[in-house]
This record gives sequence, structure tokens and C-alpha cells, in this order.
Amino acid sequence: MHIGFIDSGVGGLSIYQHVKARVSAHYTYMMDNKYLPYGEKSELFIQQRLYQLSAYLIEQGVELIVIACNTATTQAVDYLRQHFSIPFVGVVPAIKPAAALSEGKAFSVLATPATCNSEYLRGLIQKFAPQHEVIKIGSSELVRLAEDKVWFHSDVSQQVADILAVSPIPAGPGHVVVLGCTHFPFLDAEIKAALSGETILLDTGAAIAARVSQLVASDCVGDLLGDTFISSRELLAVQVERLAELGFDQHHCWPMPLTT
Ligand code: DGL
Repeated sequence: MHIGFIDSGVGGLSIYQHVKARVSAHYTYMMDNKYLPYGEKSELFIQQRLYQLSAYLIEQGVELIVIACNTATTQAVDYLRQHFSIPFVGVVPAIKPAAALSEGKAFSVLATPATCNSEYLRGLIQKFAPQHEVIKIGSSELVRLAEDKVWFHSDVSQQVADILAVSPIPAGPGHVVVLGCTHFPFLDAEIKAALSGETILLDTGAAIAARVSQLVASDCVGDLLGDTFISSRELLAVQVERLAELGFDQHHCWPMPLTT
């Protein structure tokens, strides 16, 4: 089985790690760093770009694609399912579990600007949390900080604290915060430190791994090829060095811009 992942940056790795721990397969991770951040692009742009990246991954032999990005899923997963016959697994903010856990009280969704403004998120809230007050915070700056932390081991705690200090998220214990961007689990510790240690952070890595394992035949065995990392923009030498630690032993750049 050959499984593809798509995200604008490192965020999808937070999902890849969960899936890889559960499902034995050959993985190809496509990082569209040429166009990071997706959270500031239009729906049309994201649909066309995700179409192009999916077609490329399918050419590489990928048989199932995880759209490891809430922004791309909310803007494009329906479009992709209409145009391709392979299965797509999308990642969307955990609204249903948040509604259950917050027991009628307000909860927050920390995501990208595009996800916060999406019809898709509006629909999820209407369906699963119609009675709740949902506080939405869109931040591309947090996406950039997660990139810095993962690639360069930067200490970003002060910047995360500064961003959250001016956000409307209540700092009280027990408040539920949905991490509605796959980059944000990498900032888990910084977010908790900035809010209250007892804030409940929800991400979707484990749920996505369960879904992929349901879809993949149980007798599949991983091959010995190792995993492949593709970027759409050249990586710095220090980033290439990090790839082995992140689980990849092959890397190439596919610098194709969006063509429509
Ligand atoms: N990781 C992506 C998500 O889950 C978005 C990051 C970006 O804005 O590019 O929404």
C-alpha cells in the first residue's frame, strides 16, 4: 500500500506520525512549501493546487491520500472526491468531541484564517454544536512558529504566549481548545503554558489513524523502500538533515508552480 500526505508545511507530519505508528505502508509526504501558508489563499486556489498535487501523487503510485491539512480539507476535499476515484481522508477540526467535552459551555477553535471563515466549519458547528458559543481564532503566525520549531528547534514560547495573550480564548481551567490546524499539535506545550495547564487541547491525529487503518486492507505489509518526502520548494541543508529524524530517507523537490 502506498499512502500520500499533503500539507503546505510540516503540519501534516503531526498526522503522519500517528498514521505511520498504526498502519504499515509506504508513505510519500508532499509539502507544498512554495505556497505556505494555505490559510491566506482563496478557495479556488486551494482547489486547483490540491488537484494538481493529487494528480502528481497518483502518478507516483499513491493509492490513498490523506489531506493532512484542515485548510485544504475544508476548501477542497469535496472537489477532489468528485474528480478522482482513489479514497481521500480529510482532516477537519474536532467540533463533535469538543461539543461533548465542553458540556454546554463555550469552546474555542484555533485554526487558520481560511478554516475559520469556511462554510465547512460553519456547517460542522451547526451540525454538532448548534447551542454552543464557539470562539474562532485564525492565525497564520502560529503556523510560521510551528515551522520554525520543527525545522530549526527554535524556542517560540514567548511568541506563542504573546499571540494568545491578545486572543479571546479564556484562560480558565477546563476550557476546550480545538487545534484546527495540523501545525498546532507541534505547539501543544507552548499553547498549554500560555493558557492554563488545565486547558484541554483536542487534535485529530489518532482519529485519522483509525480511519486510515479502517480503509487499508489489514493484511498489507510495509515495504522496505522507506518513506519519501517531496517539497515544492528547495529545502535548506539543515532541513534536509532533519528529514531522517522525521522518518524519511528519500527526498526530492518538485518545483512545479500552479498551472490552470
Ligand atoms: N496545516 C494547515 C492546516 O491544517 C495549514 C497551514 C497553512 O496555513 O498553510 O490548516
